[in-house]
Amino acid sequence: MSANKKIILSGMRPTGKLHIGHYVGALENWVALQNDYQNYHLIADYHTLTTSLNTDNVYEDSIEMAIDWIASGINPEKSPIFRQSKIKEHTELFLVFSMLITKARLEKNPTLKEQIKDLNLQTIAYGHLGYPVLQAADILLYKGDVVPVGEDQVPHVEITRQIASNFNENFKKPDGKLIFPIPEPKITQFARLPGLDGKAKMSKSLDNTILLSDDTDAIKSKMKKAFTDPAKLRKGDKGNPDICLVYTYHRKFNPEGIQEIREGCTSGSLGCFDCKMKVSDSLSNFLLPIREKRSVLEQNKSGVLEVLIEGEKKARIIAENTMEEVRTSMKIG
Ligand code: TRP
Repeated sequence: MSANKKIILSGMRPTGKLHIGHYVGALENWVALQNDYQNYHLIADYHTLTTSLNTDNVYEDSIEMAIDWIASGINPEKSPIFRQSKIKEHTELFLVFSMLITKARLEKNPTLKEQIKDLNLQTIAYGHLGYPVLQAADILLYKGDVVPVGEDQVPHVEITRQIASNFNENFKKPDGKLIFPIPEPKITQFARLPGLDGKAKMSKSLDNTILLSDDTDAIKSKMKKAFTDPAKLRKGDKGNPDICLVYTYHRKFNPEGIQEIREGCTSGSLGCFDCKMKVSDSLSNFLLPIREKRSVLEQNKSGVLEVLIEGEKKARIIAENTMEEVRTSMKIG
């Protein structure tokens, strides 16, 4: 691990097998950044409690998520992968940070408001209100300079910035130096990959995903149902690729063929079925190395657990050190 690289802390809640929306929206970016930055990858298992108390699958889902991360190109020797619940300092710093932000500020969080509306919640748990405070602890324990996130997570990084400044104003190292950086959000470049139904978001709960683990047949059968230009009913009809979801997938997964697809669609010579089969083949080829790597890892889940335990050892050293600095600066303990 390099001392002078900027630090990235990225994380996801473990929700099981990942889909191509996760890949395009996050993973691809993490992999691209792992040489220029020192990356840490957090499996935010405690964060899953905010929306569900059914923890039966959290362990297994964490392993599956790590498999997808590694298969997608994260090198865990360079970029440690670890579970939040295995590093006690996350909850400790969460407690300290929870004194540095007001209830009113947390209630203003637009991501939380949206979630309350979407899930139709009448009230929320105390810890759910504190979701971004735990996230701030996740980021700042490792002194993250940069947090790669989607748009919906920017408000959380803003709360992290506020907590870091507030801490820095109140507590300093004995030599007067500041403990925490003020992290920057780094918005992922490619816009969100829409779901198969054409909805803005690909999401397990909307049942509109293609998994990184899906094979060619699975991809084809899902793609058959994908949303296309509703005015193009049969081969021969002229289509508008700019409103077609399948064309968006071609842009991402079949960039060399894009001109041919556009011409075929707009002239009518290419039917939607054939167009979908083509993109399925491109996508399947694109995913092939990930699929191969993940099936090897699937055969050796205890090896994956070992990788996490190794990551946790490295993360713990840093987290313990930061917490020691925090307690010293606060003259506690
Ligand atoms: N809130 C993030 C999400 O839902 C997950 C997360 C938890 C996270 N801790 C983090 C992301 C720290 C970045 C940094 O996707």
